[in-house]
Amino acid sequence: MSKSVKKQTTVAIGIDIGGTGIKGGIVNLTTGKLIGDRVRIDTPQPATPAAVAEVVSQIVAELSALDDAPAPDSPVGVTFPAIIHHGVARSAANVDKSWIGTDVDSLLTARLGRPVHVMNDADAAGLAEVRYGAGKGVDGTVLVITLGTGIGSALIHNGVLIPNIELGHLEIDSAVAESKASASARERDDLSWDEYAERLQRFFSHVEFLMSPNLFVIGGGISKRADDYLPKLSINTPIVTASSKNNAGIVGSALQSLISEQLAK
Ligand code: BGC
Repeated sequence: MSKSVKKQTTVAIGIDIGGTGIKGGIVNLTTGKLIGDRVRIDTPQPATPAAVAEVVSQIVAELSALDDAPAPDSPVGVTFPAIIHHGVARSAANVDKSWIGTDVDSLLTARLGRPVHVMNDADAAGLAEVRYGAGKGVDGTVLVITLGTGIGSALIHNGVLIPNIELGHLEIDSAVAESKASASARERDDLSWDEYAERLQRFFSHVEFLMSPNLFVIGGGISKRADDYLPKLSINTPIVTASSKNNAGIVGSALQSLISEQLAK
């Protein structure tokens, strides 16, 4: 009995829906680490709600069959790369437009037959970083910025997440910031690291002026190449790379699933 109670409260499944892959894992919520390997399936194309729900269900089924899986009726956390308001997708900058207005919580809850809590992908990464990673114990405002296909952002103040802060959609010099300074913009425009650093400089110094954070944490795949551009940035705020690299979305969404479940009670 005590074993299963412990499992239910400290272990949860998190799923990270991305443009190219959908990844899931079982998370130990005490340590913020994955238990065992993560499961990844290519994002179906077109990535319609029904097709994505099918893949999420396959991943959850695979994880649920493992020894360390949480109880079959326990909540599942899911990230999605768009504004998520009360479980409903309200934007679709880099995903299939049919997601706009989709109640992702209800869709996945019905498909999986267990409670699902969906959140913005950068918010999930932010939550993971302040709970277990580079932002742990930092007072005041932490901004987690993910550089990928778009630019995601998470605002956390004294450990509390303020969701759906879309700093990647700030208009700077008449352009949407992520169209200039995301990792995909660097590839698209074939920029050198110096050129990319200039674009990041414009973005980070503007955000620094607007938000006065205590810490910037950089996430996304390109955080692995931070030595190539971070030393070139000149801002007053400390700026570090994320600790949980590829799994931040899985970890943060797993954590949020339990928090949401508690709040709903
Ligand atoms: C979306 C955000 C998302 C970010 C990273 C942006 O285009 O608007 O909601 O967090 O991309 O995926």
